[in-house]
Amino acid sequence: MRSHYCGALSTSNIDETVTLCGWVDRRRDHGGVIFLDMRDRQGVVQVVFDPDTEEHFQRADRVRSEYVLKITGRVRARGEGTVNPAMATGQIEVLGKELEILNAAATPPFQLDEHTAVGEEVRLRYRYMDLRRHEMQERLALRSKITTAVRNFLDAEGFLDIETPILTRATPEGARDYLVPSRTHPGQFFALPQSPQLFKQLLMVAGFDRYYQIAKCFRDEDLRADRQPEFTQIDIETSFMDEAGIMDIAERMVRGLFKSALDVDLPEFPSMPYAEAMERFGSDKPDLRIDMELVSVDDLMQQVDFKVFRGPADDPAGRVAALRVPGGASISRKEIDDYTSYVAVFGAKGLAWVKVNDLAAGVEGLQSPILKFMPDAVVLEMMQRLGAADGDIIFFGADKTRVVNDALGALRLKVAEDQGLVREGWAPLWVVDFPMFEEDSDGSWTPLHHPFTAPSCSAEEMQASPGTALSRAYDMVLNGTELGGGSVRIHQRDMQEAVFRALEISDEEASEKFGFLLQALQYGAPPHGGLAFGLDRLIMLMTGSPSIRDVIAFPKTQTAACLMTDAPGNVSAQQLRELNIRLRQQAENKGEQG
Ligand code: AMO
Ligand code: AMP
Repeated sequence: MRSHYCGALSTSNIDETVTLCGWVDRRRDHGGVIFLDMRDRQGVVQVVFDPDTEEHFQRADRVRSEYVLKITGRVRARGEGTVNPAMATGQIEVLGKELEILNAAATPPFQLDEHTAVGEEVRLRYRYMDLRRHEMQERLALRSKITTAVRNFLDAEGFLDIETPILTRATPEGARDYLVPSRTHPGQFFALPQSPQLFKQLLMVAGFDRYYQIAKCFRDEDLRADRQPEFTQIDIETSFMDEAGIMDIAERMVRGLFKSALDVDLPEFPSMPYAEAMERFGSDKPDLRIDMELVSVDDLMQQVDFKVFRGPADDPAGRVAALRVPGGASISRKEIDDYTSYVAVFGAKGLAWVKVNDLAAGVEGLQSPILKFMPDAVVLEMMQRLGAADGDIIFFGADKTRVVNDALGALRLKVAEDQGLVREGWAPLWVVDFPMFEEDSDGSWTPLHHPFTAPSCSAEEMQASPGTALSRAYDMVLNGTELGGGSVRIHQRDMQEAVFRALEISDEEASEKFGFLLQALQYGAPPHGGLAFGLDRLIMLMTGSPSIRDVIAFPKTQTAACLMTDAPGNVSAQQLRELNIRLRQQAENKGEQG
């Protein structure tokens, strides 16, 4: 139908007759002349109808926002003074000759250029309208460009794109499963995959050597700005490669994506052990665009009487750490109170602080509610260790190590954001040497990655000291976001069984849940490993989007629902009967309505 995209027209088309198809972005009536801004996925162009065109002019007079039109006209330069530098096509306009209304539109639920005012709920309910906005079109176009580049890169590296099932058994990745009842096996359920983890490992056992998939994953977990219940991974697995080889491929891929899509040359990817990341940044995904670091002061606090600090300083499982904010002395009491409430969410019981007004005046030049509890010599030594300078504020956390790291790690990000201390640009890194396990509050162990990750020690060493055993896992972090992660896997049955035992998974449970994997490991499983990137997170970063919902065409809300389709929805009594499911009383009434 069309000869050109509206947004693609330029001065090079002057005097050409063009046919455009698109939506009415805006209609203005200027004393007998009608201006229509016509929009398609490439952008907007101004079309002018004057009364000479009679019936077409009449029609132009009738159209309203979001009508779908086909227009034929001649491209011409705009007159002096009517050039619009804010518009990509602002040098030209189309003098309309013919106008066909392909479809009318009801009054839109919101004006596209006023989307911020209506709130996200309305935008999600009318997502197809929201997606007409240029910004959304650009984000999804970039997403498409990236998946194409990923396929091209991996294809050139010899990877095969292989699909794995959606109706399957649980894959443990730390979230709840989405379950699907089976009609043919009454009372039994499929689980939607939290990732293709087990299948990709079995593809290595099968000899495919290099696999990838742009795979949908499903996780029923608490949602945040960078999490969706249904999201997409760039999932990769290889055989006969160690972590260095796998990380090299992953890094080259990400570098190439940034270069081709954004013309950005990413800097070096430093490798940082997990323990160092926690110690210096209180996080396993540090944002290296921020220079501030956490500094331990436990040894100094062992010399003070202030119980709040002395207790954790003496506790092997505790930590006392300081965060120096350059130039932060201007932070008000009110802001400090707000930061105190902010860290409380992470379990911090307070937020002690010191303002450095005049270091040359010694302790007299410091302002703080806690210094009275400490000997001057300790305070001054601490100032020296922290590199304090006039105009700084120093915040303190004292508690169990995890609480201090979570609280000060999050405070570091928040203060940096508020005080403008986040550098522009890109700061990638690899976090390596993760612990195998994390201790739960009840003293049991959970895997830090997943239970198929190989330890970097022997099975005996791991069993003797699960708390200190490290794994062969690695995460790629970019600007404080965990973009992807993976590991070298266990490829021997004995080791896999040892890990299950460490996790207190009984032999029966292991064979019922993972028997197929244990069996496969006996039939010539090659050494293998891989990783998976969060595609949505990658696009979020590349487009600077504040929410993961902005880079997914049809996302779910915070409560994991789709406002547009109203999913999840009720099902009929008949469907439930077929599935052999009876709802509990309260829900049953609702369910039977459908
Ligand atoms: P992991 O669980 O770390 O590893 O997931 C890999 C990457 O997927 C992204 N991601 C998410 N993105 C959006 N919403 C979510 N709910 C969500 N959860 C995870 C993150 C994360 O880095 N099978 C392993 C990978 C492997 O070992 O090869 C796995 O799934 O960017
Ligand atoms: P308090 O003695 O409880 O009045 O606390 C004195 C100062 O220490 C206040 O500024 C508190 O915010 C701070 N504080 C209390 N508990 C902690 C803690 N666990 N970590 C850091 N600061 C704390």
